[in-house]
Amino acid sequence: MAHTLTAFADAVVPAPWQEFCVHPNPEATAMAQNAEHHYQKATVIGGGVIGASWTALFLARGLAVTVCDPAPGIEQRIRAELAAIAPNLEQLGLPDVSSSSMPLHFDPQIATAVAGADIVQENGPERLEIKQQMWQAVESGAPADAIFASSSSSIPASAMASGMKDPGRLIIGHPFNPPHLVPLVEIVAASDTPADVIDRAVAFYRAMGKRPQVLAKEIPGFVANRLQAALFREAVYLVAQGVVSEQQLDDVVTSSIGMRWAVGGPFQSFHLGGGPGGLPDFIRHLGPALEALWKTLGTATFDGATVAMLTTQSANFGGSVDELAARRDDAELRLLRALDEVPAGA
Ligand SMILES: NC(=O)c1ccc[n+]([C@@H]2O[C@H](COP(=O)([O-])OP(=O)(O)OC[C@H]3O[C@@H](n4cnc5c(N)ncnc54)[C@H](O)[C@@H]3O)[C@@H](O)[C@H]2O)c1
Repeated sequence: MAHTLTAFADAVVPAPWQEFCVHPNPEATAMAQNAEHHYQKATVIGGGVIGASWTALFLARGLAVTVCDPAPGIEQRIRAELAAIAPNLEQLGLPDVSSSSMPLHFDPQIATAVAGADIVQENGPERLEIKQQMWQAVESGAPADAIFASSSSSIPASAMASGMKDPGRLIIGHPFNPPHLVPLVEIVAASDTPADVIDRAVAFYRAMGKRPQVLAKEIPGFVANRLQAALFREAVYLVAQGVVSEQQLDDVVTSSIGMRWAVGGPFQSFHLGGGPGGLPDFIRHLGPALEALWKTLGTATFDGATVAMLTTQSANFGGSVDELAARRDDAELRLLRALDEVPAGA
């Protein structure tokens, strides 16, 4: 492994959300793409939905990628995914990841796939025993200083690492789907993970143009999925109670809090809702009503009747899943670009 260099994302993008790197300036784009950084090779274990997306991002950021997945036809599947993703990344000023000249390799054996890796990003099935076996195999074949990250959305690193010789090496690097577009990566480590392991993971994801957030402790679902779960519970409750349809509920979100939360999260939004006195005034003024509302929030279950209702209404989104996903990706790209134009500190 070569260790020369600088994390280019930091060098060329000033505002926090610009870490995802929409480069309006072609010179800056070229500089970013050509700049050398510490990382040369990524091994992506599991080439499904998330693994394919990470593969695209790592290739776009100049890494050689080895995909390790024993599934028959994996190369064809990954190349088809890259062809679908490439136009989106090109809109962000990144290179064509579907090009045959990309340094993309396939190796179904973990022990050899991880040789020489700077980063191992695991995206295998969400099953503890499978992940435990994978990480033991990774540890035995990977360089001693490689970063070990799992995309798992629910299994703590400490549980996955229990059979490793050095369990402190493994962290959760949890992306939001699709990782090649959505900036967040939640980094979650066991309580005894050395600080430098976390620091190196943060530096890596920043160099990939991501916005890593380090959680101070392990908690089921991490942060983003807990928030989604809380909101979705109430969403399912409201639809199940017949208050609104799925489509109405989605429109309520995208035309109000969704839009607001793209530029300022729940805390800052209520800070601004408090007027000049900020969050303390907001809580003084509206806190009691909010507390009363908390007591009325619903609980939801996926019982037969609820699932049948949700299934019926999900036919009304106005397109196939592929069409809706393409529309979403296009809109998210436009959003990223629009946020990129907001001056730093605005
Ligand atoms: N799908 C999401 O929205 C999402 C979001 C964030 C995180 N995650 C996490 O990412 C991980 C992968 O999820 P996914 O949705 O991509 O799953 P997926 O089912 O699409 O992909 C899993 C892949 O792992 C491969 N695999 C199975 N056994 C393997 C082995 N022994 N070695 C190597 N590869 C093997 C399968 O062939 C498959 O291609 C999970 O841990 C999940 O929690 C998923």
